[in-house]
Amino acid sequence: MTFITFEGIDGAGKSSHIEAAAAHLRARGADVLLTREPGGTPLAEALRELFLHRPMDALTEALLVFAARRDHLHTVILPALAAGRTVLCDRFTDATFAYQGGGRGFDTGVLSQLEAWVQQGRQPDLTLWFDVPPAVAAQRRAAARAADRLEAEDLAFFERVRAAYAERAAASGGRMVRIDADRPLEGVRGQVLAAVGGCERTR
Ligand code: TMP
Repeated sequence: MTFITFEGIDGAGKSSHIEAAAAHLRARGADVLLTREPGGTPLAEALRELFLHRPMDALTEALLVFAARRDHLHTVILPALAAGRTVLCDRFTDATFAYQGGGRGFDTGVLSQLEAWVQQGRQPDLTLWFDVPPAVAAQRRAAARAADRLEAEDLAFFERVRAAYAERAAASGGRMVRIDADRPLEGVRGQVLAAVGGCERTR
């Protein structure tokens, strides 16, 4: 069983690479579950809609994403891992430390407590962090879609989010692998498949 998460600032381009990683693993016989946060269950998807579109303070944001995460972890992720499936999740708790901790400046001690309550020591086996300069990500977002509440934040916010990802990666003991996402698609894809393949080999 393997639990792999995908992270990065909005516009880093991770979503299309998650599909490629899933196809790569399926071709090697893995039973892959693709899911996302906030979301992945009916309750968590309902919380996602509130989270992305209703104004709220940073503690409320943190409580909402961890409520969604508890439901997702206990009803979908852990049962899938127990059944021997490979779970690929678009964002997880590193996003909370990056966005609420870094972006909003919220107390990371409180986030660590929520993390401990909700996850009880469970961490992803591997996290691919798609790193790209915030100005590049902003251009990609502008070309792709209308902004939600988080995506409407300014460059300084995304600089703080990026710095928090970097800090979390440095402290992750190798769990988080940095993907240089400021490169042409094929180069990024090569890094992604190499990282995911490395995880397969260590299973
Ligand atoms: P997505 O667009 O990649 O699905 O992510 C939804 C947004 O939610 C994105 O802007 C990042 C943000 N987010 C947080 O602020 N905290 C979290 O814990 C998670 C999982 C996402």
